[in-house]
Amino acid sequence: MTTGASCRVRVPATTANLGPGFDCLGLALDLWNDMRFSLEGAGVSVATRGDHSGEIPTDVSNLVARSFLRLYEEAGAAPPAGLSIHCDLRVPPSSGLGSSASAVVGGLLGANTLLGRPFDQVRLLELAAEIDGHPDNVAATLLGGLTIVVRKGRRLLTKKILIPEAHVAVAVPTLAFSTYAARAGLPTQVPMKDAVFNLGRTPLVVEALRTGDFELLSQVMEDRLHQATRLRLIPGGRAAWVAAQQAGAAAVAISGSGPSLIAFVSLATDALRVARAMADAFGAMGVVAQPLGLSVSAAGATVA
Ligand code: HSE
Repeated sequence: MTTGASCRVRVPATTANLGPGFDCLGLALDLWNDMRFSLEGAGVSVATRGDHSGEIPTDVSNLVARSFLRLYEEAGAAPPAGLSIHCDLRVPPSSGLGSSASAVVGGLLGANTLLGRPFDQVRLLELAAEIDGHPDNVAATLLGGLTIVVRKGRRLLTKKILIPEAHVAVAVPTLAFSTYAARAGLPTQVPMKDAVFNLGRTPLVVEALRTGDFELLSQVMEDRLHQATRLRLIPGGRAAWVAAQQAGAAAVAISGSGPSLIAFVSLATDALRVARAMADAFGAMGVVAQPLGLSVSAAGATVA
């Protein structure tokens, strides 16, 4: 690729699990990170802006840059002599909203575009899942909408489910939190009855979202595999959960591994109100939280 070539990539936030669909379900949200990649200068430079830019490294450890260079390596191409990356960041990092998946997918898509698209979407998904470690987030990031992903040997099997417009309230508490820690406390084995509890509810969550049936969603967005353990790690999480229900949310879940909570609401106009109720409940427990009223994004990552 010639020096001076550039491209822009838009990458959505995502929420994973959706209650019972642990490690299988993902949903893209209408909150975007924008990245611009230019083959210019010497070496790799990364610049970030946006509310959370101070929390993102701009040296070679930057995940967007690492993912970009990883794709070059995978394609057997020499790394570019100069690479400049500008990131406009709106997805809060370490919040359970797929910021890492967004960085990985953004870097891979940028590199794939500037190399003339050597890899198709399936291979990009596998590479992204390998780097990020969370196929549920990367599938929704790449494909948009509601996605189901399962491992099949060394491959990933993914299905995007078309769903009508949906609105969510999100509260993002400012807590130091890592997915690693949020997974470390989970059991390695679960009772059969708990597995069955989630097995039945997972397709019903998909069906409820596919048909816009929030009454069904309110009954089946429940989990016995991961949320109780994780909620104990989120100060104010239980209070925020109850506040969302009292404010009229149809269903509440931990977003990904947390610490954000996501609540589904019937009306777009309720999203911010319910998000504020959750943020206030976090606040009453001494935890500052950002309220977000968002829509589901039918579109996944796009290249311009
Ligand atoms: N399914 C993953 C988990 C998502 O719950 O740990 C991580 O964002």
